[in-house]
Amino acid sequence: MMYLMNVDYHTSEAPVYDRIGGYDAIAAIIDELFALMRADSRFARFGAGRSLDSRQRAQQLTVDLICSVSGGPCYYIGRDMRTSHAGLQITVSEWDACIELTQIALAKHSIGSREAVEFIALFERYKDEIVETT
Ligand code: HEM
Repeated sequence: MMYLMNVDYHTSEAPVYDRIGGYDAIAAIIDELFALMRADSRFARFGAGRSLDSRQRAQQLTVDLICSVSGGPCYYIGRDMRTSHAGLQITVSEWDACIELTQIALAKHSIGSREAVEFIALFERYKDEIVETT
């Protein structure tokens, strides 16, 4: 039947969105990551002078983006990653620090190692758009 043509019978596995615990788990992991960043002096320059609303808006948009690209039912309405980070001069070492804190946030929420790798890979696909400085 024609309508079944897009189904891939070789990978019946659930999307990482489901395996990680769905929307609430993603929201909790991102909340943890933003809290870790706020407490870390390596990210002090990014929080300085930004209102609570601006920070919470970026946090919610990050949840929406990851929900969307992990196979969840969300629709991302924010700006693309290059536009929203251009001019911030994010360095490779700041990127590495972000990944380090993301791994801590994933561990705190007891995400299994395989799903943690897949979650990090969702971030890594935007590295070239976000990092500006070597
Ligand atoms: C070193 C790592 C990162 C830093 C320092 C950083 C910093 C920032 C800052 C300061 C903003 C606010 C920009 C503005 O409105 O003026 C922002 C926005 C945003 N970031 Fe990041 N970011 C990082 C990595 C990431 C990653 C890995 C993701 C997800 C893949 C992400 C997703 C977003 C989203 C969705 C927004 C909001 C876009 C919009 O306003 O439309 N960021 N980020």
